[in-house]
Amino acid sequence: MDWKEKIDKDRLPRHVAIIMDGNGRWAKQRGKFRTFGHQHGVKSVRETAEAAAEIGIRYLTLYAFSTENWTRPKSEVNALMKLLVRTINKESKTLHENKISLKAIGNLDSLPDITRRELFEAIKETQQYDRMTMILALSYSSRWEIVNAAKTIAQKIEAKEISSADIDQKLFESCLTTNTIPDPELLIRTSGEYRISNFLLWQIAYSELFFSTKYWPDFRKEDLYEAIVDFQKRERRFGKISEQIIK
Ligand code: FPP
Repeated sequence: MDWKEKIDKDRLPRHVAIIMDGNGRWAKQRGKFRTFGHQHGVKSVRETAEAAAEIGIRYLTLYAFSTENWTRPKSEVNALMKLLVRTINKESKTLHENKISLKAIGNLDSLPDITRRELFEAIKETQQYDRMTMILALSYSSRWEIVNAAKTIAQKIEAKEISSADIDQKLFESCLTTNTIPDPELLIRTSGEYRISNFLLWQIAYSELFFSTKYWPDFRKEDLYEAIVDFQKRERRFGKISEQIIK
């Protein structure tokens, strides 16, 4: 099936977010260590980024490392951090060639110095591109982000910059790490798991969800296109009734 041909370019989701899952199981199926799966996951990152940029997606967010992932065995965490540095270095060519700017969300202070340095450098080097923004969620969890936003608001009140009456959704959103990024219209999770796992809980209030049974290292361009075709078949009502939707 050529899914790309079936996409209506006028009704693309502006922002697609992905929970890349199944690297460990993919490796285990092949009798290899989990890190082998992460290494192969990098190809899927490249393919997905290229595929999204090719059709005109403006924002692509990838859940690369969650706050909870720090509790994995130290050897796996270290391998993932090293892989991130290597990938950022190696894939910066892909970013430049496809005019993609890089951003990151999460508790970036908790990353090892080298990872943070490479990340910030790549973010700076690609900031001029506006074809697509690729956002890496690193040491990210939604509850961490929401608590952080609550703290920021409390501090503003303590400093008498605002009063509690000023708190509304807009103010709250401005305190989230995603404050410059529109909410994702489409959230994809791979590996046949049907969970959100603490990812963008505020931002996905009205997102369409697509679950792929493929493990992340097997995810390819056509899989992204299939998810987008499926998204385009749905009616997004935002609490209204069908007849109220302008088609
Ligand atoms: C989930 O699979 C995947 C991760 C925790 C890491 C994702 C990282 C990459 C693909 C590497 C490079 C990424 C970028 C963006 C530079 P899992 O380990 O939870 O798999 P399992 O559920 O089968 O155990």
